Amino acid sequence: MTAPLVFAHRGSSYDLPEHTLAAYLRALDEGADGLECDVRLTRDGHLVCVHDRRLDRTSNGHGLVSARTLAELEALDFGSWHRAAATVETLDESHTRLLTLERLLDAVLAAGRPVRLLIETKHPSRYRGEVERRLVALLRRHGLAEPGPDDPVRVTVMSFSPLAVRRVRELAPELPTVLLLEVLPPWLRLGRLPFGSRIAGPGVDLVRARPHLVPALRAAGNSVYVWTVNEPEDLELVLAAGVDGVITDRPAHALARLGR
Ligand code: G3P
Ligand code: CA
Repeated sequence: MTAPLVFAHRGSSYDLPEHTLAAYLRALDEGADGLECDVRLTRDGHLVCVHDRRLDRTSNGHGLVSARTLAELEALDFGSWHRAAATVETLDESHTRLLTLERLLDAVLAAGRPVRLLIETKHPSRYRGEVERRLVALLRRHGLAEPGPDDPVRVTVMSFSPLAVRRVRELAPELPTVLLLEVLPPWLRLGRLPFGSRIAGPGVDLVRARPHLVPALRAAGNSVYVWTVNEPEDLELVLAAGVDGVITDRPAHALARLGR
């Protein structure tokens, strides 16, 4: 059994504010194989790395991300809410500034080493398929829409929405996709994931509740990336299950457990 890939969920987001450049650079320093991010569209059509529909939890702004322009979001502070603000000596722009997907792509391409990037499109969105259309266009501009095995930066697109996964398949058939699963939908056939997806992304609670899930998915030729694996007992569970990817807020812990 090969060791799983370790992906930093929203960056090293246990230690630093999620979805900030500082959290992603920390994850790369720690040796994570890859990074996970969520993307949403602003009112003026920019892809930004923000998890929640609303700004309230992770910034000093209020209301919907999708109702704001990029310039409005750039004026907000996305870092001071985090407990790291009390411990990091100086919070600089890398800890507090909104991260656009474009800036994250630039950082990953400049990393000088192989990096996997898992990009999750968030739905429902008022912009529906425009999210995937803008994403694929941006990836094409960066030469990332047709990843080859030797490319240092390899993007995979994820979503809980099967429709979104289908759109990515239609727009960029070469891009690998992950179908994320919080529960097991009754229509899902474990042998064959829909819309050409070859990677399943169950939550760790689902893996715990369904011990046969990972072996069944893998026996059918799929890979399995599990989120969000933060606790030691969760890590032991998914390692014993033989998963292919571990998505965690604490990549350094997972890497240490794997002896890396
Ligand atoms: O990596 C998948 C995981 O991020 C899905 O859940 O809510 O953290 O985006 P969420
Ligand atoms: Ca996510």
